[in-house]
Amino acid sequence: MEHIIISGNKPLKGRVDISGAKNAAVAIIPATLCAGGVHTIENLPQIEDVRNYITVLESMGASCEFLDDHTMRVDARNVSSTVNMPENLKGMRASYYLIGSLLGRFKKAVVPMPGGCNFGSRPIDQHIKGFEALGAEVIQEHGSIFVTAERLVGTKIYLDVASVGATINIMMAAVYAEGETILENCAKEPHIVDCANFLNMCGANIKGAGTGVMRITGVTPTDMKDRDYTIIPDQIEAGTYMIAAAVTGGEVTVRRVIPKHMEALSAKLQEMGCDVFAGDDWIKVRGKEELKPTTVTTLYYPGFPTDLQPQMTALLTQGNGTSYVTETVFENRFQYIDQLARLGAKVKIEGRMAVIEGQARLTGADVTATDLRAGACLVVAALAAEGNTQISNVHYIDRGYENLEEKLTALGANIRRISDGEPPLVALEA
Ligand code: UD1
Repeated sequence: MEHIIISGNKPLKGRVDISGAKNAAVAIIPATLCAGGVHTIENLPQIEDVRNYITVLESMGASCEFLDDHTMRVDARNVSSTVNMPENLKGMRASYYLIGSLLGRFKKAVVPMPGGCNFGSRPIDQHIKGFEALGAEVIQEHGSIFVTAERLVGTKIYLDVASVGATINIMMAAVYAEGETILENCAKEPHIVDCANFLNMCGANIKGAGTGVMRITGVTPTDMKDRDYTIIPDQIEAGTYMIAAAVTGGEVTVRRVIPKHMEALSAKLQEMGCDVFAGDDWIKVRGKEELKPTTVTTLYYPGFPTDLQPQMTALLTQGNGTSYVTETVFENRFQYIDQLARLGAKVKIEGRMAVIEGQARLTGADVTATDLRAGACLVVAALAAEGNTQISNVHYIDRGYENLEEKLTALGANIRRISDGEPPLVALEA
């Protein structure tokens, strides 16, 4: 087991290049199966979730070849519609995209039930509702989902919740459906647009991605062409570094980002008193000695992303008053608060709201990441804390952050990774 050790209380300074978006990558990789053919995907982040997805694709007969660290050619011509998920990957959340992509291409998919980060019940009823509306029969038994259709026929589908996963999944299932599929109340997140752009570049006919209504006109597999596609930058990784700059009173430029994707966070950082400057593909955040408190409510895009809620909560412990964070997307996403409290945060949970007392004195301690963004929250808090923090369950953080230690070290952080058995809290000079 590995741990991250951070000796904090040091302003971060410099520039950091943001990797490709995790949530776009884990949609576009399975979308290559839907498209069929041979495709080259550029700007793939080197993270655990991507490596795991590649393992799954290979186990299905796809060939995945890295042309460089971030560019992969996928040959998806000969893949099976049954996913024999390697045992250790059975809990993978984004495996649900295999259902839509295989159903679209083969009218048949057998996929183990998806797992995922440990917050809320995370149902997939909206995905299933969409598949059934297109004409598929969906059976869940023995831990797998069996989906088959004689024909897939376009229709109007209204999502009861604007689910990212359901939007992408139904979109993929509808690529070859006869006629037009109209998806209403769909999610608008940037990675939905990215996945639609990839499929459209290959020959699909998807209109309205990024708005609340999408129209997918069915094409035939022979319309699809082999393509090169570049994944967008990771909104959440960029946001994590912006928050890290603010919490340490530092000055950091995140490069290779789409500033429009960061507007909700930039606005909140400005409300807290930070300076935020944006160019074409960069944002600079300058923290301040004194930060103001604020209120944050997580929402679907373009609202404040739930995936930045834990990191933002860590930052708000340093406001000069009480802040309020309301989580509306997931029902149980404050599980990390106990760990944050070990570092000195004073947070009370009242239903879906966290009440955060400001000006907490954060001091290093042993803490455990309970999921990916909870891990990022602890990293942010540790960067501001006096003394050494040791974070366990690093595998969660590795799911979504490429070269975290290298990137933070380049910004002046005192951080390293140790394995079990190495001396723990003396590993870094304070
Ligand atoms: C995706 C992101 C995740 C992010 C989340 C919200 C990926 C791989 N993951 O997750 O990082 O935190 O969006 O921005 O892109 N829901 C239902 N029924 C369904 C589907 C969802 O009730 O069939 C509910 C969920 O319980 C949740 C809400 O809808 O309360 C949003 O979930 P959803 O947008 O589907 O999240 P994911 O796609 O799982």
